[in-house]
Amino acid sequence: METVVSGIRSTGKLHLGNFYGAVKNFVQMQNEFNCYFFIADFHSLTTHPTPEDLHGNVKQVLIEYLAAGIDPEKATIYVQSDVPEIAELYLYLNMNAYLGELERSTSFKDKVRAHPDNVNAGLLTYPVLMAADILIHKATKVPVGKDQEQHLEMARTFGNRFNRLYNNEYFPEPFAFNFTEKLVKVPGLDGKGKMGKSEGEGNAVYLSDEPEIIRKKVMRAVSDSGPTEENQAKPESIQNLFDLMKIVSPLSTYEHFDNLYNTCEIRYGDFKKQLAEDMIIATAPMRERINEIAKDETYLRQVARFGAIKARESASKTIREVREIIGFKNF
Ligand code: TYM
Repeated sequence: METVVSGIRSTGKLHLGNFYGAVKNFVQMQNEFNCYFFIADFHSLTTHPTPEDLHGNVKQVLIEYLAAGIDPEKATIYVQSDVPEIAELYLYLNMNAYLGELERSTSFKDKVRAHPDNVNAGLLTYPVLMAADILIHKATKVPVGKDQEQHLEMARTFGNRFNRLYNNEYFPEPFAFNFTEKLVKVPGLDGKGKMGKSEGEGNAVYLSDEPEIIRKKVMRAVSDSGPTEENQAKPESIQNLFDLMKIVSPLSTYEHFDNLYNTCEIRYGDFKKQLAEDMIIATAPMRERINEIAKDETYLRQVARFGAIKARESASKTIREVREIIGFKNF
């Protein structure tokens, strides 16, 4: 059976981008593959969270994984820092990751632009750590959104380079994957690109947002004065709302409003109201379960401990074999 690995950085609550880009696929995949889903708390250290925030965020992602339907009996759910073997593999892979290729990564360049005062080595080698996450379980399938495609290419590069260096076929090639042909990019509400946690207030709708908050965020989304010509192209700040509707609403609803746009009869107030209501419906089951699961500390502890044991079984086997390939020998 093929192995799947994927993770979410522990930087807070999950938004619709995380859900439709990745987590929804985790839930489907756990029935078909040998799955490892983890909370990437090593990765979150690039932005220096306080110890309290770090733990709180890890817990929040764990709660939301479970609320979204990841089943700890089917998939292995774990916290990255509970598996120190990942850090060891990261060290080995770093020896064959070159400055030039790391500096060329799009996400690194974006981070440097956004935070020129915090260009640390962890940020530079972020794709190496991500490769270690994947290769530690010798995964071939990685459910992620469109924004992680380049990182997957780098994971293949690092795995292949290790294989070539030691002249064997130890690591298989991992590919980004979801059940459709295309990886998903969920746009933000502000019409300026993808939905993300660090893209500014009002850009993201969270799975845990109360209905009133969702309504407010959607109603505040930028729109324009409406189309003036039939079948006119949509500007980005309108297209994003249509793209969101395509994701959360029934197709007939999307087609109804698309048609109204094309005939210049659309009323953005009605359109946004519908979009907000459909987002509320899409997130309702999770919102309720988030509140329930959050209360059950014993269950959360059990899930994390059980997951760590299972993940370490697989990870320690890989590290044993990798050490042998590299040539470390016990005296
Ligand atoms: P992160 O935490 O930024 O995002 C988690 C997952 O959500 C997806 N995603 C989106 N998909 C579509 N549209 C969006 N607007 C959107 N925003 C986020 C991401 O593509 C991702 O799948 N580096 C990773 C975490 C990670 C990882 C890994 C993933 C660490 N190690 C190993 C896979 C395998 C990250 O920061 O994702």
